[in-house]
Amino acid sequence: MCGIFGLIQRSGDVAPTILEGLSRLEYRGYDSTGVATIDNGILKIRKDAGKIKDVADRLHIAEMKGSIGIGHTRWATHGAPNMINAHPHTDQHGKIAVIHNGVIENFLELKQELLDKGHNFVSKTDTEVIPHLIEEEMKGEVGLAEATLRSLRRIKGSYAVCVLSSLEPNKIVCARLESPLVLGVSDGATYCASDAPAIRPYTNKVVYLRNGELATIDVNGYKIVKVADGSVVERAPEEITWSIEMAEKQDFPHYMLKEIYEQPISLRNSLRLQEKYMDLLTAFLDRGKEVFLVSAGTSQHSCIAGSYIFSQIARLTTYPVVSSEFVERYGSTVGIDSIILAVSQSGETYDTLKAVDHSRMRAATVLGLTNTVGSTLTRVSRAYLIQQSGPEIGVAATKTFTAQVLVLAQLALRLAKLRGKLSQDELDEYGANLHKIPDLVETVLETTHERVKEIAAREKDSRLFLFLGRGISSATAMEGRLKLLEITYVPSLAYPAGESKHGPISIIEKDTSCVFVCPRGETHAEIIGSIMEMKARGARIISICEEEDTSIIGLSDEVIEMPKSIPELLSPVPYIVPLQLLAYELAILKKLDPDKPRNLAKSVTVP
Ligand code: F6R
Repeated sequence: MCGIFGLIQRSGDVAPTILEGLSRLEYRGYDSTGVATIDNGILKIRKDAGKIKDVADRLHIAEMKGSIGIGHTRWATHGAPNMINAHPHTDQHGKIAVIHNGVIENFLELKQELLDKGHNFVSKTDTEVIPHLIEEEMKGEVGLAEATLRSLRRIKGSYAVCVLSSLEPNKIVCARLESPLVLGVSDGATYCASDAPAIRPYTNKVVYLRNGELATIDVNGYKIVKVADGSVVERAPEEITWSIEMAEKQDFPHYMLKEIYEQPISLRNSLRLQEKYMDLLTAFLDRGKEVFLVSAGTSQHSCIAGSYIFSQIARLTTYPVVSSEFVERYGSTVGIDSIILAVSQSGETYDTLKAVDHSRMRAATVLGLTNTVGSTLTRVSRAYLIQQSGPEIGVAATKTFTAQVLVLAQLALRLAKLRGKLSQDELDEYGANLHKIPDLVETVLETTHERVKEIAAREKDSRLFLFLGRGISSATAMEGRLKLLEITYVPSLAYPAGESKHGPISIIEKDTSCVFVCPRGETHAEIIGSIMEMKARGARIISICEEEDTSIIGLSDEVIEMPKSIPELLSPVPYIVPLQLLAYELAILKKLDPDKPRNLAKSVTVP
């Protein structure tokens, strides 16, 4: 996720307004900042790694001249956060500048094609191919908008882009596909930005661009066309009525809820991983004598889910280990044949990095999965993948869990293919199911939230929760329990359901709240047995199961019904969503701030 802001106005310098706009978009990314303006017909760029204010002060960005400009705040996906990789990126002659939010899946092919034509690239980003493609198209004597249109037709992936060029200095060309972009119009100035709150202080008239649309903006307004065929789209501006305060969280009262709702988008991005790095990680995983999945908190729960997928799909045994226990438990045996796949949203968790350091000293191969390009984990890993879920501001990790599970599931699929463990039909079916997950999560958000609110109202005074699941659903149960614990402080336990009779059952009394995660699949019959055990002891049964699953529904006091046909092995992704919502709604009913849980920090960088 990145933030983009562009502005053209009749007179006066735009740089101070661009900086203001970017600061309202900082929640979308904050590892690098850059601004381009056209000053006396010449394209000028100032950019560097760092937060907006620091970079702006250091490079005196507010003093840049020009009444047209674009600005970017970055959350790296390709290439470390440094000056060279910061946006805007330019063509070879410094005449076309581009800022971008999204992921270009086929950038390596496009880059190779451009290299063959003699282009030089300076950055490691996917974005840099865009100005070069536009430059090539403009050689054919077409204008900036048409050249951008033609270039975008060649791009696979997602984008919101703004293009500024000294060759046509009175316009900004912008377009979107899956990443958001909104225009703002006022008398004598036209804006474009990643979201409306960035524009709201200057105008309440906005135009939301739709997927596959390109707009050319100038001081008099805008013209929209479809990228696919260039046909003109008529759309009048709409008035926004909400305030800036409401807007920062995009109308959501808390970042946690906003991030829960962002999951369909973040998951689509998590499906856009670079083939080359996936292959590299897969090859390492295949080679290891033993594979440890090392992580903490939510990331550990993703790893537990991942371990089921690796063994069932790719026939690879993996050991999920809590980072803080790794050195004592396996430190003296880990060695040259061991693979450590460290999973960490921040890439900075102290315990995880300590386990990684120890493993490197013993010549083990360290692989990484993180959300943070340029984090310590990316620097110390032999190879790494980025989960691509954008900045997560809520302390309670939500989109992290779903993204990490989806990435691990993709790795397992690739490994299964490499090892010949699945037939072509099975591979195709599994791949197709993976791609359905973002839509399923969207449906789950639409269909379960109201139901979860009703359940939360009835469970508000419950003093103890037990979360149970079988097989891979035990990971979902653990993560659901962690969410509840972190933000409501209600004592709760999570167990693989089969283990509950070896101890936890002793705490069950009349009305103890028991949450069962019960997707259809191999564990279905056994979970029914576990529900009956708890019900017989007076527990209140809250089940998350497939719609019309009468055997579960008949035994439960409360039911959250999920869409049909979700394969059990991928169920943690959609099935965690109602549990995230349950924790959130209970926190609200208890008048607690879910974004600021007590005693917790987003990234634990201390021993
Ligand atoms: C849970 C949570 C923490 C983190 C843990 C690991 O909601 O946010 O438990 O999951 O601190 O953090 P990363 O993934 O950054 O290593």
